Amino acid sequence: MKHKKVIMKSVKVPLKKLNDVRKELMEKELMRMDYRIKAEDKYGYIPVYEDINGFEIVDIDLEEINVQPRNFAQLLENELSKSEIENLKTSFDTIGDIVILEIPEELEDKKNKIGDATLKFTKRQSIYMKKSAVHGTIRIRDLELIAGKDNPITIHKEHGTRLKLNVKEVYFSPRLATERKRVSDSVNDGENILDMFCGIGPFPIIIAKNHNVNITGVDINENAIKYFKENIKLNKLKNIKAISGDIREVSQSFKRKFDRIIMNLPGLAYDFLDVSMKLINDDGIINYYEFSDGYEQATKRLIEAGNKENKNVEIINTRKVKSTSPGEWHIAVDAKITSK
Ligand SMILES: C[S@@+](CC[C@H](N)C(=O)[O-])C[C@H]1O[C@@H](n2cnc3c(N)ncnc32)[C@H](O)[C@@H]1O
Repeated sequence: MKHKKVIMKSVKVPLKKLNDVRKELMEKELMRMDYRIKAEDKYGYIPVYEDINGFEIVDIDLEEINVQPRNFAQLLENELSKSEIENLKTSFDTIGDIVILEIPEELEDKKNKIGDATLKFTKRQSIYMKKSAVHGTIRIRDLELIAGKDNPITIHKEHGTRLKLNVKEVYFSPRLATERKRVSDSVNDGENILDMFCGIGPFPIIIAKNHNVNITGVDINENAIKYFKENIKLNKLKNIKAISGDIREVSQSFKRKFDRIIMNLPGLAYDFLDVSMKLINDDGIINYYEFSDGYEQATKRLIEAGNKENKNVEIINTRKVKSTSPGEWHIAVDAKITSK
């Protein structure tokens, strides 16, 4: 590759002093790292930013070095403040070859620069910014391409599983990976499991990959079920059934009850507790989720729903899955259900 030559301000030093002066200028951060030092017969030339007292400065042609940006901050240091850069970095969601990020309103005019920097830094193929919150029954959000290719279909790798999805058509959050692993680790072989709101199937897939179980996953979003079916094949799994429809209606035709029911629809799961209390086996576990500032409301709702079906509810575990807004969390409550 040919490198561009540019006339540069340089410190001229006798060759035998070149190394010592180079070290001194580097330590004082006065030397430019984006141009190559030149050595000729008697003199060496060290690229610098400005005149430096005590040194002879000359203009001479030096070779440009292709410096790879070290990190995201370096790529945006002329555009944004340090705290703006840090904030942006925490908003990155990487899903397969796609990065989705949240750009605050006051930085929207710099969205393409931020997109290009993200593309270079992450080396993914498509960078989208969030244009809305997750909304509606099927829990998807509006996205706008800010750099790279407009290809919303990708395969995401998570704890040894492969999950294919279209980020514009289905719900998926890589931030739930630890929660999915945790639930999977608590499963016993032989369980008959229902995921009431399964999306593209990340809970069923990781569980079936690690256990000998029977799983039924239901989702009202047909596209989510289309990808769930593909993911079952992609991961070469058996004993998983994918059903498209509203769980309240679909469950009417179930012939058996379940040892575990996963209810990851945190904004509305409480509305389906009557369904899960009817479908759970004695000594079965409900993995229940809510958006809340604590566990009190979820515990109360579980106990009330249990009472209506004449069942005892024992809370066996609670945890914060992820922060949603200041003071509010996506929380998890694991409850053991027994007949009274
Ligand atoms: C928060 S997402 C969770 C998806 C999946 N469990 C995951 O972790 O990626 C909730 C899902 O519930 C589905 N959903 C909403 N209402 C439903 C209903 N009445 N019956 C079945 N699925 C429903 C949505 O389409 C969405 O895919």
